[in-house]
Amino acid sequence: MDSKRAQSLLHPAPEAHRPVHPFLKWAGGKRSLLDDLLSVLPKRRISHYIEPFLGGGALFIELARRGRIERATLADRNSELTETWRAVREAPLRVARAFDTWPQDPDSYYRVRAIAPLTLDRWHRAARMLYLNRNGFNGLYRLNRQGQFNVPYGAYKRPIALDVDNLVAVSELLKCAHVVNADFEAVMALAEPGDVVYCDPPYWPLSETSSFNAYDGCFFGPEDQARLASTFKAVGDRLAYGVLSNSDTPETRALYRGRRLRVRTVFAPRPINRNADGRQRIAEILVTAGSRRVAR
Ligand SMILES: C[S@@+](CC[C@H](N)C(=O)[O-])C[C@H]1O[C@@H](n2cnc3c(N)ncnc32)[C@H](O)[C@@H]1O
Repeated sequence: MDSKRAQSLLHPAPEAHRPVHPFLKWAGGKRSLLDDLLSVLPKRRISHYIEPFLGGGALFIELARRGRIERATLADRNSELTETWRAVREAPLRVARAFDTWPQDPDSYYRVRAIAPLTLDRWHRAARMLYLNRNGFNGLYRLNRQGQFNVPYGAYKRPIALDVDNLVAVSELLKCAHVVNADFEAVMALAEPGDVVYCDPPYWPLSETSSFNAYDGCFFGPEDQARLASTFKAVGDRLAYGVLSNSDTPETRALYRGRRLRVRTVFAPRPINRNADGRQRIAEILVTAGSRRVAR
């Protein structure tokens, strides 16, 4: 990349502003539910936004793009993921240059997949994560028992180019954010009156055949779901405002019953690969805790 192009990306002309979108394809990504989520969020500027299950961060990006966030704490238990977000925040062009190291074809994919991340510098580690996410099957993130990434090649007809302008735009949005690698409970404990917390945990499985840790290498079982429900209720009790998504099952309905909680039903497209035409929709719950009117 020449230095003129790099400069124009870092300091875009005002007319160059355009929608910013997630740079990762993440299971459970919330792009399709953004309107429902925005309708339950405060209309004011949020002084402190907390997202403890960051993933691809679709809601953070949308709110920050609209100038609705003053300061954010973004967290996830997946350390490769939070490291990637940090690298994009600090030096998107270094990440983009590192991404260009590897051709996007099946042989190269399996070569990149076999690289032990810790043998790379942090920019190449982030670039490898983006590369595997773009070229692997359905953008899945899955590790084997040895902790090695084991998703097969996605067999795309054309390689999916990295959108460098978008990466730079996300990096700008991240200037207001602190990205941490932690369990949700520690992060939600930071919520103070007027703060807004959005929780998008791994969902309660819809059938006995689907497992609790299907895709991201982080087991999230019934005990974690119960721990999350009580931590979420405490957010509302502390005069912060909480919003939470989950699947609509008898178990989740039972977990989110209570004073100061409101449960709505929303409809999302079925998860990737179950229904190629995306027309079938599936019910989910959107729970809110506390009042969105409390401002700090
Ligand atoms: C459904 S995804 C979030 C999707 C995200 N909202 C988006 O738009 O892409 C759930 C995320 O929770 C993370 N996670 C799983 N267990 C966790 C825990 N105990 N604490 C924090 N994050 C966790 C996973 O690594 C995964 O990235």
